[in-house]
Amino acid sequence: SEQTFIAVKPDGVQRGLVGEIISRFEKRGFKLAAIKLITPSKEHLEKHYEDLSDKPFFKGLITYMGSGPVCAMVWEGREVVKTGRMILGATNPLASQPGTIRGDYAIDVGRNVCHGSDAVESAKKEIDLWFKKEEVQSYTQAQHGWIYEK
Ligand code: GTP
Ligand code: MG
Repeated sequence: SEQTFIAVKPDGVQRGLVGEIISRFEKRGFKLAAIKLITPSKEHLEKHYEDLSDKPFFKGLITYMGSGPVCAMVWEGREVVKTGRMILGATNPLASQPGTIRGDYAIDVGRNVCHGSDAVESAKKEIDLWFKKEEVQSYTQAQHGWIYEK
C-alpha cells in the first residue's frame, strides 16, 4: 500500500518530540516501515530539497536541516501521503490548526519540527534517497482488520 517519508527535523529531535510524532501516526493506525536517526550531509539535503534551490531561504533551510540528528521514517497505509500532511499541519505553523503537530508545537516556518512528502511520486523519490531497500520492512500488522474493513 501507499508509503510516505516523514522526518522529525533537528529542532523536533532536540525538543524531545520524536515520541509524540511517532505516537500520532501509530494511533491513527498507520504502520511504521522504517526508522533511523541520521545527521544528513549538505549534499544529501540539497538533493532532498532540490525543488527549492531558487528560494531565498534555501541556504538557511540546508543549515537548519543539517544542524543535528533527524529522525527519518517511512509510514505506510491508505492515503498516508495526504493524511500525513494533514497530521503535520500547514508549512507555516502560525497557519496550522491546533491538533496538528505544527499547530501544537511550532511557531516559526524556519523551525517547523517535521517534514512530510507532498505527493506519492515525491514520497517514492524521498524514500529512495533516505533509505536502502533492506532498511524498509514489509510486514503484516496484527491489528490490520481492526483498522481497515477491507
Ligand atoms: P516539508 O514537509 O519540510 O517539505 O515542508 P512543506 O512541504 O510544508 O513546505 P516546502 O516543501 O515548501 O518547504 C520546505 C521547508 O522549507 C519548510 O518545511 C520550511 O522549513 C522551509 N520553508 C518554507 N518556506 C519558508 C519560508 O518562507 N521561510 C523560511 N525560513 N523557511 C521556509
Ligand atoms: Mg515540502
